[in-house]
Amino acid sequence: MGFLQNFFTYETTKSVVVKSWTIGIINRIIQLLILTYFIGWVFIHEKAYQVYESSIDSSVMTKVKGVGQYSNHVLDVADYVTPPQGGSIFFIITKFIPTENQHQGSCPESEHKQWCNVDEDCACVCFFPGGILTGKCRKFNATFRTCEIQGWCPAEIDTVKPVPMWEAENFTIFIKNSIRFPRFNFEKGNLHPNLNETYIKSCTFHPISEQYCPIFRLGDVVHWARQDFTELAEWGGVLSIKISWICDLDRSEDQCNPDYTFSRLDTISEKNNVSKGYNFRYAKYYKYDNGTEYRTLLKAFGIRVDVMVNGKAGKFNMIPTLINLVATFTSVGVGSFEILTDIFWVGKKRELFQFVLFFFQVTEFHIMRSITLNQSVQTLAGKSEEKRSTDSGTFSIGH
Ligand SMILES: *[C@@H]1O[C@H](CO)[C@@H](O)[C@H](O)[C@H]1NC(C)=O
Ligand SMILES: *[C@@H]1O[C@H](CO)[C@@H](O)[C@H](O)[C@H]1NC(C)=O
Ligand SMILES: *[C@@H]1O[C@H](CO)[C@@H](O)[C@H](O)[C@H]1NC(C)=O
Ligand SMILES: *[C@@H]1O[C@H](CO)[C@@H](O)[C@H](O)[C@H]1NC(C)=O
Ligand SMILES: *[C@@H]1O[C@H](CO)[C@@H](O)[C@H](O)[C@H]1NC(C)=O
Ligand SMILES: *[C@@H]1O[C@H](CO)[C@@H](O)[C@H](O)[C@H]1NC(C)=O
Repeated sequence: MGFLQNFFTYETTKSVVVKSWTIGIINRIIQLLILTYFIGWVFIHEKAYQVYESSIDSSVMTKVKGVGQYSNHVLDVADYVTPPQGGSIFFIITKFIPTENQHQGSCPESEHKQWCNVDEDCACVCFFPGGILTGKCRKFNATFRTCEIQGWCPAEIDTVKPVPMWEAENFTIFIKNSIRFPRFNFEKGNLHPNLNETYIKSCTFHPISEQYCPIFRLGDVVHWARQDFTELAEWGGVLSIKISWICDLDRSEDQCNPDYTFSRLDTISEKNNVSKGYNFRYAKYYKYDNGTEYRTLLKAFGIRVDVMVNGKAGKFNMIPTLINLVATFTSVGVGSFEILTDIFWVGKKRELFQFVLFFFQVTEFHIMRSITLNQSVQTLAGKSEEKRSTDSGTFSIGH
């Protein structure tokens, strides 16, 4: 019953009009600050009148161009780009160590930590990169004997240091990107409508002078990612080209343009010596007429490029506009002192602040002798009891 009685009540706050210049000016200044905050930050800067979409549908097509020289061979795109489909992630091989004509069989392995003198040294029946140890000790060359393995033979020797294909610095990457914001049914691509064929054949992207050219020189991408091309070509690494579409759809469509940023993604392999750079092995398989298979093993080093697309579009909408307008008016309308007391709502500080505030009011009252204040001051001067309303969060004095 007591609970019901408490529940079905109506609470209201007493208004106090304080005719004081000081408080009045403080009040107006606070209101002005609140208004400035809402107009300047919430509405103009944060565009609180818009609804947003940050999920973006996107497709990326890439095409690498350029010709390079590598150990007396001239290599074209089909030789050095893998996978060849032209997707958003591709690998440009700048250096590889080939091991040609590998057959299934047994041979002395080339990892030098497995040197041996007699068969007993190779007793470990364990797996070994490149094959399975057979337990025999064999002559590797005139000076060394190593354990024999069964697998693809001859074993790879990857300690050689070939010269990378330096021409890769001048290779170009053409990127075609289409995006869609499904919520607003807005579509666009990174090929500017004014681009013509003659221009696109000769341009290269530059963040300031050639923003609309979709062709990127690999050396530039490495440079803008603050990396050293020599080091990347030697050891390999992963770079990202990030395309950001931040669009205000209340403006004209021409102003919705991609923004490109470049960075290195595998910073971990840059900073430690345990696993440096990026490399992988793959093989090309062939067959003799008699059906015997053989292969060429390649250990490839190079630069992987990840093209990533993100975006966010905003457009005017009535609902967030109304909500934020109401929030603005409420904040300005509510007694600014209450906002201040709410800000100072930290344990004892609040009480102290209120004491100062009411002391101020009382003093002002005695000077002004305002009739309106008479009642509340009486309660203040007498046994003042504070009660914080649970519903509205406002403050009332006495009963
Ligand atoms: C044998 O191989 C080792 C390791 O590759 C090399 O250091 C050494 O010079 C070679 N010896 C001869 C005689 O080729
Ligand atoms: C890249 O192209 C420029 C100009 O065409 C040329 O001067 C430079 O030598 C080339 N770099 C390499 C590594 O081939
Ligand atoms: C192609 O575009 C470039 C620059 O946008 C311009 O200078 C050139 O005249 C155009 N060429 C043709 C054939 O439209
Ligand atoms: C990695 O190796 C280089 C040269 O070999 C050396 O200068 C550097 O201090 C090493 N870094 C770490 C983290 O060991
Ligand atoms: C198949 O032919 C290759 C080269 O002609 C030869 O080395 C190999 O021993 C042959 N394999 C068989 C099973 O005859
Ligand atoms: C304030 O209220 C009291 C009683 O409620 C009254 O006696 C007094 O005259 C009032 N003062 C003024 C300035 O109105």
